[in-house]
Amino acid sequence: MNSFALFSLLLIHFCNSVKLPPSFEKCDLRDNNYNQCLSKAIKNAIQQLTIPMEAMGLPDLDPLEIPSMVIGAGNGAVQFQQNYFNITITGLTKLASLDANLDLGPKRLILDLRYPQVQMDFDYEISGKILLLPIYGKGPGSITFLGNPRFILTFEMAEFEKRKKKFMTVTNATLSMEPQLIQFHLENLFNGDKALGDNVVQVMNDNWREVFSDVRPSYEEAFSQIFAAIFNNLLRKVPIVDLFDGWDL
Ligand SMILES: *[C@@H]1O[C@H](CO)[C@@H](O)[C@H](O)[C@H]1NC(C)=O
Ligand SMILES: *[C@@H]1O[C@H](CO)[C@@H](O)[C@H](O)[C@H]1NC(C)=O
Repeated sequence: MNSFALFSLLLIHFCNSVKLPPSFEKCDLRDNNYNQCLSKAIKNAIQQLTIPMEAMGLPDLDPLEIPSMVIGAGNGAVQFQQNYFNITITGLTKLASLDANLDLGPKRLILDLRYPQVQMDFDYEISGKILLLPIYGKGPGSITFLGNPRFILTFEMAEFEKRKKKFMTVTNATLSMEPQLIQFHLENLFNGDKALGDNVVQVMNDNWREVFSDVRPSYEEAFSQIFAAIFNNLLRKVPIVDLFDGWDL
């Protein structure tokens, strides 16, 4: 093998496997209370993501930027598709608490996240009926989850081998969003008829539970996929042996 080929191989190997940075804590799964360690370690890692960590495939989580998202129509209160663009989510690193529970048998990780608040700013485009009222328009807007929203993320994972190293990948992700209060804000509804727009937004805010529960599965699906993609970026790069101690024992 010439030295160029060797160098290329080393480079590929290097690019395909990275270690966690020293600022991330590593837990030993042989400890009885490893979930306590994981809760602390994952909370600590998330809190550091106010900047991207490109080597580990991790984006800036606060603000988290998403180019676009479509939320399908509901069956009741929300009879239209919601089109969001230029989405910026703030607050995802400002955890009030995080409980992690890794079940080594089925390789299932449950993260129970609580936040003071999480806000999603966007450009929207909608046309349809909400709570039986016609609604249409496009412009800037936001949805704010207030009063300690709780998000429960469940990742099912499988192990695979790459260049003789063991990695994990998310095979299924589900999210349960449990908001305590939601505030909608939509500017420029009805092509700028502010009085009518403010009225309809007021009705949405007064009935936020009904509005949200109708489209909740669609939000949960969209966000579980986003979080699974972020987690998978990390899992694709960091071998299990560098994530935890004691995995194979
Ligand atoms: C998204 O942001 C860009 C840049 O600010 C803007 O040009 C574009 O119109 C926005 N998209 C929508 C759908 O508003
Ligand atoms: C993912 O998990 C959910 C909840 O347990 C389950 O309903 C769904 O069928 C699973 N999907 C896949 C593709 O395994």
